[in-house]
Amino acid sequence: MRLILTVGTRPEIIKMAPIYEIMDRVKEIEVLLVHTGQHYDWEMSEVFFKDLGVPEPDVELGVGSGSQLAQTSGVIDKMERVFRSYEPDGVLSVGDTNSVLGTAIASSKMEIPFIHVESGLRSYDFTMPEEINRRIADHLASINFSPTLGAFSNLLEEGYPVERVFLSGNTIVDAVMKVQELVGRSNILRELGISEDELLMTVTVHRKENTDYEHRMLGILKAIKELDDLTIVWPLHPRTLKRLKEYDLLRDLKAMDHVILTDPLGYLDFLKLLSSSHVVATDSGGVQEESVTLRVPCVILRNNTERPELIELGIGRIAGTNPASIISSVRDFVYSEKMRTKLEKLPNPYGDGTAAKVIVDVLRRIWDLRAIRHESPYFRGGSPHYIAFKVPENLVGITVARFQEMTGYEVVSIYNASGKAVFFDLSKPFLRGEVVRVRGDPYNFQKVVKLMRERR
Ligand code: UD1
Ligand code: UDP
Repeated sequence: MRLILTVGTRPEIIKMAPIYEIMDRVKEIEVLLVHTGQHYDWEMSEVFFKDLGVPEPDVELGVGSGSQLAQTSGVIDKMERVFRSYEPDGVLSVGDTNSVLGTAIASSKMEIPFIHVESGLRSYDFTMPEEINRRIADHLASINFSPTLGAFSNLLEEGYPVERVFLSGNTIVDAVMKVQELVGRSNILRELGISEDELLMTVTVHRKENTDYEHRMLGILKAIKELDDLTIVWPLHPRTLKRLKEYDLLRDLKAMDHVILTDPLGYLDFLKLLSSSHVVATDSGGVQEESVTLRVPCVILRNNTERPELIELGIGRIAGTNPASIISSVRDFVYSEKMRTKLEKLPNPYGDGTAAKVIVDVLRRIWDLRAIRHESPYFRGGSPHYIAFKVPENLVGITVARFQEMTGYEVVSIYNASGKAVFFDLSKPFLRGEVVRVRGDPYNFQKVVKLMRERR
């Protein structure tokens, strides 16, 4: 089996590393590792290959920075050439970046099965480029691997066929566990001059919906200024550094004595910093997952999250960029004795460190990836036909079982008068106002309704 694995940004390299490591040991899988080049600075890309023990990519596309569309179309264009020359049986990507969207579109249009890892996350916020990317990538995929039950159920809710979705856990847990020992050897705290008795907070910010709005960055900075009872370490993402300079806020931040600004850290140093922190404030997706894995309470600098599990567990809180909400959330977490006791007993909804193994095992079982390719329905005996009808008076009260038995049509879904899907079994009677979706031969449908009327 010839597989292309793609990476483009920092979190993709981290989350792909455990999958690469296992595949590299499996003889029957031949892997080509392709880097889109969306992230290209040493501390945003190469350091993660080194820290996670992944060899250099086989192909570098050099797409680089640009607008949302330039980046996505650059990936589509350059991936086409790689796909043509390598002719893979499948293409696997992790996450929701422009690199992933470009890859999903390119492979689907070339009829190469696309395998999406970390699928089914939903923030319901279409102003996030990631929400657009993940929804399209999920629906183009021939197989989806969901990290949590919530993500899994989001896909089923959207009608994605259950036989093509697998619950794997998130490979970030595998990555954290894999490097645990090396993290212990990081000297980052000493290098930053931090002693063990300091109350420590890590901050990361990089989302467009924060960095591109001066008032939101100002809100975060105001909270940070006030929280001077803590030592705060903020490794600055290049996008954030650029914007802080543009807004002339970098000087203010540098003037805060309790704040240590650094370049983006490598993975081992960052995990050392995070695991030594009493709290983290972040708009990052990966850091939210790591906060649960490392049991560090997490204040989310966003107004929503596609990772609700940490909030359900009580280890995460959405604060947005309102200074008062950030400050109170941070203080509640840092000074609450009850919180610390609770943390010890938390389960990890993001996985147990075996996600990559599950993914590789499933792919090995499928073996012939061409078999899961989306093929034209003409080769499968024609398109399925769905008919939707509002329950007519003569069908009110008739059960699903009776309807199916008399007509041969299969009831697929039932929606109530407000458009919500209704749970049903064979004994459910049709109600006035409901809309029923059935599968069957469209030519017979009128005849069927007539027959139903006569037979009643
Ligand atoms: C991207 C992803 C985001 C992910 C994040 C991980 C999209 C839409 N966004 O956001 O989902 O959470 O990566 O960090 O795909 N830059 C550099 N050096 C680099 C990379 C970027 O200086 O190596 C600067 C450039 O000015 C660039 C800006 O950062 O314009 C933003 O980079 P980009 O990859 O477009 O988006 P991220 O904010 O990194
Ligand atoms: N990270 C890192 N160094 C840093 C900041 C973050 O190694 O200075 C790691 C972090 O541990 C997490 C990943 O980068 O695994 C998250 O990347 P990012 O926040 O850029 O993207 P997101 O997860 O939001 O897509």
